[in-house]
Amino acid sequence: MSALDRIAAIEAEALQAVGAAMTTAELEELRVRFLGRKAELPNLLRGVSNLPPQERGAVGKRANEARKSIEARVEAATAALATAELDARLAADRVDVTLPGDPPRPVGRLHLLTATRREIEDVFLGLGFSIAEGPEVELVHYNFDALNHAPTHPARGRSDTFYVQGAGDDVVLRTHTSPMQIRAMEATPPPIHIIVPGRVYRRDSDATHTPQFHQVEGLAVDEDITLADLKGTLLAFARAIFGEEREVRLRPHFFPFTEPSVEVDVSCFNCSGTGSLRDGSRCPLCKGTAWIEILGAGMVDPNVFGYVREHGYDPERIQGYAFGMGVERIAMLKHGVPDLRLFYDNDLRFLEQFG
Ligand code: DAH
Repeated sequence: MSALDRIAAIEAEALQAVGAAMTTAELEELRVRFLGRKAELPNLLRGVSNLPPQERGAVGKRANEARKSIEARVEAATAALATAELDARLAADRVDVTLPGDPPRPVGRLHLLTATRREIEDVFLGLGFSIAEGPEVELVHYNFDALNHAPTHPARGRSDTFYVQGAGDDVVLRTHTSPMQIRAMEATPPPIHIIVPGRVYRRDSDATHTPQFHQVEGLAVDEDITLADLKGTLLAFARAIFGEEREVRLRPHFFPFTEPSVEVDVSCFNCSGTGSLRDGSRCPLCKGTAWIEILGAGMVDPNVFGYVREHGYDPERIQGYAFGMGVERIAMLKHGVPDLRLFYDNDLRFLEQFG
């Protein structure tokens, strides 16, 4: 077979194969087979110089034409098939972005304790307080000494309080958020209006005590602060949390770092402060007393100011009030939670009821 006939045969075979190809992948294979480095036609072209001089021109020209026509056909067919393939892929991959996820993702919610803490924070932010946080691993100096606890105070005992090993008797897990009263006054001169939310730790464990729980401390210090300011602030707090009709009352109490000290009750929101339900039975929440204890408070003891005197707290010149509440207790009262441990069991059937 002459070289020209062979070229015509290759061309015919290639064009027929290209015409029959169904996919771009097949076309790529054909391109390699007929035009690739090892293919016959390009080899023929490269070998033109070895031909007798009178054949070179015609064979070279014809081989070149054949290469170009195969190339053009492969390209055109590839373009046509690529469009069709893309259309097919787009149709097959179509996603309805308006369908819900599968399975639908639960949005989740804040833990009741987090929600309650934030609610308390919001009330006091609205009253002009700012939020401060302190260390949970605390020096005995801040947790007890500077808060005017007598050396014999029972809370100092190892049966009540977690002491950090290897730190002598100097470091505890804080038993209340009150130490931040001292730290805040060391850091900032009066006037001061802060609340301190955070975790606290005590060696206790039963239906009404967990070894770790949460408190919110409050401290207000200025030159003319009185017990009436404390009562007004706590009344606003009680009404924001428990309802606008609430009243508060102060009962005398004792805390080492306040003088006078009080316990604060809110009028019972279950029986509207009457002590009995509509059917005449005793209100179970306040146990018929019409009042519910919500927190401890008092006027900052001058001895406490004595520990921060050099930071601008002259006990002769300034006064302040302080208060401290349990976040768990507020949440239990407000939502009727019967057992403190429910907060920490991570049982979704409980947690999902709130928020
Ligand atoms: N620290 C006290 C406790 O843990 C609560 C408390 C009572 C805080 C009176 C105060 C306060 O700031 O004035 O039981």
